[in-house]
This record gives sequence, C-alpha cells and structure tokens, in this order.
Amino acid sequence: MKARVSVHRDFKISTIDDRIYSAFLEHLGRAVYGGIYEPGHPTADADGFRGDVLDLVRDLNIPLVRYPGGNFVSNYDWMDGIGPRDKRPTRLDLAWRTTETNEIGTDEFMRWCRKANTEPMMAVNLGTKGFTEALALLEYCNHKGGSYWSDLRRKNGASHPYGVKVWCLGNEMDGPWQMNHRTAYEYGRIANEVARGMKTFDASLQLVACGSSHANMPTYPDWEREVLEECYDNVDYISLHTYWQNYESDSLNFLAKTVLLDRYIGTVSGVIDYVKAKRRSRHDVHISFDEWNVWYHSRKPDGSNDDGKDAFWRTAPPILEDVYNFEDVLLVGCALNTFIRRSDRVRVACIAQLVNVIAPIMTENGGPAWKQTTYYPYQFASLYGRGDAMNVAVDCPTYDAKVADDVPYLDVAAVRAPDARMLTLFMVNRHPTEALSIDVDLAGFDATEIAQHISIANSDLGATNTAKHQNRVVPTKGQGVGLRDGRVGGQLAGRSYHVIRIRI
Ligand code: AHR
Repeated sequence: MKARVSVHRDFKISTIDDRIYSAFLEHLGRAVYGGIYEPGHPTADADGFRGDVLDLVRDLNIPLVRYPGGNFVSNYDWMDGIGPRDKRPTRLDLAWRTTETNEIGTDEFMRWCRKANTEPMMAVNLGTKGFTEALALLEYCNHKGGSYWSDLRRKNGASHPYGVKVWCLGNEMDGPWQMNHRTAYEYGRIANEVARGMKTFDASLQLVACGSSHANMPTYPDWEREVLEECYDNVDYISLHTYWQNYESDSLNFLAKTVLLDRYIGTVSGVIDYVKAKRRSRHDVHISFDEWNVWYHSRKPDGSNDDGKDAFWRTAPPILEDVYNFEDVLLVGCALNTFIRRSDRVRVACIAQLVNVIAPIMTENGGPAWKQTTYYPYQFASLYGRGDAMNVAVDCPTYDAKVADDVPYLDVAAVRAPDARMLTLFMVNRHPTEALSIDVDLAGFDATEIAQHISIANSDLGATNTAKHQNRVVPTKGQGVGLRDGRVGGQLAGRSYHVIRIRI
C-alpha cells in the first residue's frame, strides 16, 4: 500500500491552543483518593500528594485539569470541601453511589495544580445548586479579599486568589443520568444567567456551556442549538464529550470511530455558526472537548459502570479502571490527530480522566504508579504537538467500516513548532497487516534531517501495561523512515503509531 502526503509551509490550519492537551480529574473511584492523594504512601509529600503520580503528571505537561466532575459535580456542595478537615461532612455521592469524605476540596486541588505545573479548570454545580453557589465559589477562588468568601479563603490559608480563568457551567446537563437534569431550554436559561453573573464579576473569564454527552444522544444536535440560542453571547465554549468502545473486537471498525469524532466536531461547528448568524453576533464560541477517551474495558455492554464489585457507598472504590491495550494507543493517536486537524474550532480538550479512572496513569494503593499504554500518544502530542497545525493532503487506500465509509488507512497530523525549526508528523497505520509505504512532500520547508522517529507497535493488539509488567507497550526508536531530497519516505508497519520529527 502506498500513501502520498503533502504538507506545504505556507498552508496552516490554525495555531494550536495548547489546552487541547488538557485532562480531567473527578471525585470518582480512586482518581483522587489513592490516585493523586494518599497520605500514607511512601512517596507522599507533606500535603499527602503522591510524588510518583506528580512526576508522571508533570512529564505530560498538562495545560489544564478539569475538576471536580463530571457527574459528581451535579450533586456536589463545594462548601463541604473547605476549612478544617475534621469539620468537613461526609456525604453520599449520588452520581457514583459512593461516599465522599471531602478530605480533598478546592484549596487542596489548587495546591496540587501548582505542584503538577498545571492550571485548574473548575466546574460549578448547575444540577442541585445554582447561581448563588457558583458565584460564591468564583468569589472564593478569584477575589483578592475584603469580602465574605475571599476572606474565608484567606482564613483557610490561601492569601492570594487562585485566578481560575476557565469555568464549566455544569456537566452533561443533557443526560437523564445527571442529578437534576434539565431540558435544553431550562439549562440554556440557567447557563446564561450564571454566565452573566460570572462575567459581571470578571469579563475576562472563559465560560463553557454544556453541549452533548455524545453524538448518539436523542437531543443531539438540537441541544447545542437551543442552549446556544439562550446563552451564546455570554459563553466562550460549548463542551462536547465522547467515549469509544470495541465490545465486538472489530479493530478496523473501532479505529474508524475517530472519523465520527471529526464529523461531530464539524456538525457542532455548523450549529455554532448557525446561532451566531441568527443572532447577528460578532462573538465567537469555540469547542471545549472536555471529556474524551476509550472507555469500555471496565464496563458492561449495556453501559453500566459496574466493574463487578459492589461500589455502593464505599469510599474510593476501584471503579472504571480500564486497563488500556496497544489497540487503544492507535485510537488515542487518531483522536489526538483529529483535535490537531480541528484546532481551528477545538480550543480545549481533556482526556478523561487522568489517574486510575479511565486514565493514562494507574496506581496501586500503597504500591507503584505506572504508565498505561495510552500515556504515550497523549504525552507525545502534548510535548511535540504545539505550534501550527499544518494542512495535510493525503492520498491513500481506504476501507469501509460499519461506522463509516472511505476511512483512510493512514491517519496523519502535522505540526510546525512555535520556533519554526521542527515539523512533527503524527501517523497511524490502521491496516491490520500491510505496511504503508509513505511519500511525504514537504514543499517549502527546507527539511534538513529526521531529528527523531518514535514508534509504538506490537504484534498483540491486546497487550497491556500492568503493575507487574509495566513495559509491555512502550515507545521504541522508529526504523525504516528517511529523508531524501526534502521528502520523507519509508515503511510504516501494519498497525503502528509514529512520531516523526523533522528539522526544518
Ligand atoms: O468520565 C466519567 C463520566 O463520564 C463523567 O463523570 C461524566 O461526565 C461522563 O458521563
């Protein structure tokens, strides 16, 4: 099989917003307790944060971490999670039917963000709470002092405001599973009022309204239209979520699902444009794809989140702990490529989630922390996928899958580094067996050498990294690709992931 690819120096899609490499951390299962926080752990610091996890998180260079939910936020009272720990109430979390001790709350999360070299993206509860609590949290976090909530923050030990810039107005409010779920009109009205209040406090805040939980929701894409018709001029992003499954073990079909991701982004971009035109607005709304990942290894085909153990009302039970395999590397690689190619519309994207719960990082309580297979494509995109997303033309064989026709075997994104000295190609060969012979024309780039070629391949699609075998799926030095007369050529093995960094 042959693939012709063309990238031209003068044709870029957009300057990538680094925040498309963000992540998500929810009070769910062992994400917080046993994930980022475990006071008794040998690597724990004075705040009880696991040092081994912090190291793995820092190596990802994550711009934003969305917190505290997720479904959790829609029945969460942030006021439970501040002040002296011995006074904090233990509550039932209705989203995951577990018990929340509130040992970790807003102040601890902000401290962890500083240690992790990342910024918070806070979600407010627009399910069981509303305007008053959202504005109080904003004042608590961002006002310098001299008011009730800001003085309380100071009393709780944080003299400087946290300066949280990006705020989610609730979570998945289109979902009947959400506590105090609403219709699009009801939600749009509340989102608009809360957004107006928050922007009165600080017009520079960036606010995210809830879009669809996935593209198969019965209300999609009318939900986006109705919500935006209510709040368009007061919000900056509409959120989208999606998770992928491969219950049928149909790899080609599974890997075709990022074509639907592209379509989802395209459709919602169209809805945004429609509402903008209808309102004669000059304001731009972008997409915050703030939950995406593979999620099915720990889940039943009916969608229930039960991992076979009884999670009911336990504290930090091990739920939603997907163990990712090599096949997932390929899918996550294609998803990240899609966000790069759509970076003109997608300005924030969060892999969901960060630790233990459908996450690139896994831990054992009292034991090691390690990299899941999917850690690597996420890390490489975050490290090398910053700068300009370049236009890529691809001519290669395609296949018809159950979910989409004409799926190209080669998935590719190209990014020119901010200093314009490196061009990085992210490539996935979806074909199960056949190598792709690539010929990449780099017109106008003056390519001098291939600085680095990283590849991930494995003869076993189901290969995983576990506590015992942490390095079954790891990146290796790529082979068989070279630069000749300014063109990149060579062979990409069937089912392989590549990062090719070209000095320009
Ligand atoms: O990430 C797990 C859950 O998936 C989140 O809590 C929710 O927003 C989504 O349905």
